[in-house]
Amino acid sequence: MSFSETRETKARLNRSELAVPGSQSKFFEKALQSPADVIFLDLEDAVAPDQKNQARKNIIEALNDLDWSSKTVSVRINGLDTHWMYRDIIDVVEQAGQFIDLIMVPKVGTSSDVYALDMLVTQIENAKGFNNRIGFELIIETALGMQNLAQIAGASTRNESLHFGVADYAASTQARTTNIGGPNPNYVVLTDPLTQDAREVHWGDMWHYALSKMVVVARANGLRPIDGPFGDYSDAEGYKAAAYRASALGCEGKWAIHPSQIALANEVMSPSEEEIEKAKQIVAAMNSAEEEGKGAVSLDGKLIDFASIRQAEALLSKLA
Ligand code: GLV
Ligand code: MG
Repeated sequence: MSFSETRETKARLNRSELAVPGSQSKFFEKALQSPADVIFLDLEDAVAPDQKNQARKNIIEALNDLDWSSKTVSVRINGLDTHWMYRDIIDVVEQAGQFIDLIMVPKVGTSSDVYALDMLVTQIENAKGFNNRIGFELIIETALGMQNLAQIAGASTRNESLHFGVADYAASTQARTTNIGGPNPNYVVLTDPLTQDAREVHWGDMWHYALSKMVVVARANGLRPIDGPFGDYSDAEGYKAAAYRASALGCEGKWAIHPSQIALANEVMSPSEEEIEKAKQIVAAMNSAEEEGKGAVSLDGKLIDFASIRQAEALLSKLA
């Protein structure tokens, strides 16, 4: 290990994160009853420009009137390049800041974006004398944000998680797709002929590099990496496959843009019985190996060593 220590952010269950448009107050109670770990009330892209003010009012009212204590609650503000953002912060935090856990910041491009928000939120919290300290979840969804990822991740002690916003990322990088997440039939490898005339098409994951980079930077800074939306909510299998890919890379959760995706995210992002059992066996086998003065042993015909213990412990720590 490096002598530099990574400070882990506050631990929160973040397997599923439900998006709820702030303009649709009829969905707020339903969201509260849902099994989502985190709910974000949206002021940004799910709300039309002429609805922004009303959505802000709806959110402030609901935060004050409903009991959100069983959930982690976040509010997605508008981008720093819009004229709605300052009111999003000032009105929502001044009037309901004691009821929110997190602010979700879209299209973060530079560490200064985070610094500016931190300054504003700190002033409001101090002026109002709030006891809670609001955390930040940052959506990485522009080429600029991806370029400046490391500085952004380290820009504030309020930072808790990085989220991959695949739709805006595709727009920003001018990727040729109009889907929200998922595979792309143009992102394939055509094999050389395997036999006389047989060639195979192997689908690739065009989001692999971006998501993987985000996971690494999140972990290096002690933050939770969370995968963003999957637009085709009628495709449960496709959603699960995308969530499994994200979790295989290290993501702790995935957005649900439809209530039907909540249970899928919770299922995929929770370690299975088999994984837990295997991790426990690895820890036990390595403990016995250590007692016998060995650094590596075999378990079920495979080599395990002290790195295996760390892998197993990382998995078991998710149960705590
Ligand atoms: C989320 O905000 C996205 O753009 O995918
Ligand atoms: Mg977006």
